[in-house]
Amino acid sequence: MSSTIYTDPRLAALYDALNPAAADTEFYLSLVGAPARIADLGCGTGLLACALAERGHRVTGIDPSAQMLGIARKRPHGDAVRWIEGDAGALAFAGPVDWVLMTGHVAQIFLDDDTFLKTLRAARYALRQGGRLAFESRNPAARAWEDWSKAESLRRIDVEGVGRVEVWNELREARPTSVVRFDTVYRFESTGEERVAASELRFRSRDELAGLLATAGFSAIDWYGDWDRSPVGAGSRELIAVAG
Ligand SMILES: C[S@@+](CC[C@H](N)C(=O)[O-])C[C@H]1O[C@@H](n2cnc3c(N)ncnc32)[C@H](O)[C@@H]1O
Repeated sequence: MSSTIYTDPRLAALYDALNPAAADTEFYLSLVGAPARIADLGCGTGLLACALAERGHRVTGIDPSAQMLGIARKRPHGDAVRWIEGDAGALAFAGPVDWVLMTGHVAQIFLDDDTFLKTLRAARYALRQGGRLAFESRNPAARAWEDWSKAESLRRIDVEGVGRVEVWNELREARPTSVVRFDTVYRFESTGEERVAASELRFRSRDELAGLLATAGFSAIDWYGDWDRSPVGAGSRELIAVAG
């Protein structure tokens, strides 16, 4: 996938306004429970990593984007997190951990199964005995991409020092249970400037995810269909896996 939205400093600076703490944050905070060692892979701007550190967890936040990590480091409790610029290869420096988390649909960034499998194996290797990996992927059955039009997805955010920004998605190509390509358009009201960032996300079914997890050495998986821990049903928006 094009990583412009994470590596362009002007777009990375909008991430927190577009992705504030929500039900997914609460889900992961309550999931990990008692103070633990945690690796947050694809930690982005560090919202969850810092909230975990605030609660007494020992957290390593890993992300390949220097721009996202730059924002993460400056957050409250950012000084309590160990930040590593890298990908799954860096998990070796975080482990052994009780949890590996991949939140914000990071799992969908891995377009081909080989890369995703390599990541899952690295997570398995970093976990101490009894440790677990948790992540979510959008359920292809819910066809989220059908809402990725300007009419359905337009949002207006006000960002300090930037002003009002209009943001929307434009679907380019959807191949269900495969790769969905779309653009995100950012229109800066103060200048009228528009930036277009191309993205690609892989949508995998629960069976595909379960197969890859098994190949990577995970034997027990709890599945949830949404942040309220409801079971996976035909219309569930999410496929949330907690695997040990
Ligand atoms: C949608 S953001 C999610 C950020 C954060 N986890 C959250 O929940 O807000 C996806 C993040 O994955 C990171 N990323 C991209 N490629 C990656 C890779 N190969 N391994 C780990 N993280 C990656 C991006 O830099 C970005 O910060």
